[in-house]
Amino acid sequence: FYLLNSNIQMKILLNNTDLNKALNKASNLGFIPTMGSLHPGHISLIKKSIKQCNKTIVSIFVNPTQFNSQNDFKKYPRNKKRDLLILKKLDVDYLYMPLINEIYKFKRIKKIKLFKKDNILCAKYRPGHFEGVLDIMERLTKLIKPSKIYMGEKDLQQLLLVKRCLEKKYKTKIISCKTIRNNRKLALSSRN
Ligand code: PAF
Repeated sequence: FYLLNSNIQMKILLNNTDLNKALNKASNLGFIPTMGSLHPGHISLIKKSIKQCNKTIVSIFVNPTQFNSQNDFKKYPRNKKRDLLILKKLDVDYLYMPLINEIYKFKRIKKIKLFKKDNILCAKYRPGHFEGVLDIMERLTKLIKPSKIYMGEKDLQQLLLVKRCLEKKYKTKIISCKTIRNNRKLALSSRN
């Protein structure tokens, strides 16, 4: 369905059939993957995509497989109404908000495993986290087939692992974007 404003229309896609239909003819598509609770960091990624691409799609999906605890997943901030208003105002073309079943319909044949040398920093202390991130990012990339994916340098380890994994297999380029900080120099993050 569409969110209407005087002259702005954002198409909200809730399932993969609608997604395929909507993106059928899209070229030079920019994609910003998010888990919602949007902040100025996300907004800067979206603005960059709008500038550089013909169409821009944002996803909001709180991905259960990248959380180390069920409690953390449950407590993750969700702010759908506010997010919709932000995206509409920015003039985003598409918002993809799938249900869990839609995304995890198909089982992976080969399990994702980090190389031993990548098991450092955050990966060392959050077992399974980056495997979950790589899994969802590959699923989203296969579905959306974006030309460019915009990701923040704030999560540098995530950015580098996703870049290495996706650029090898898909015709998509990961665009790294600088960290946006608050007036106390803290990097903006949905959790904060
Ligand atoms: O950085 C995030 O918000 C998430 O890890 C991402 C990239 C949207 C994957 O779920």
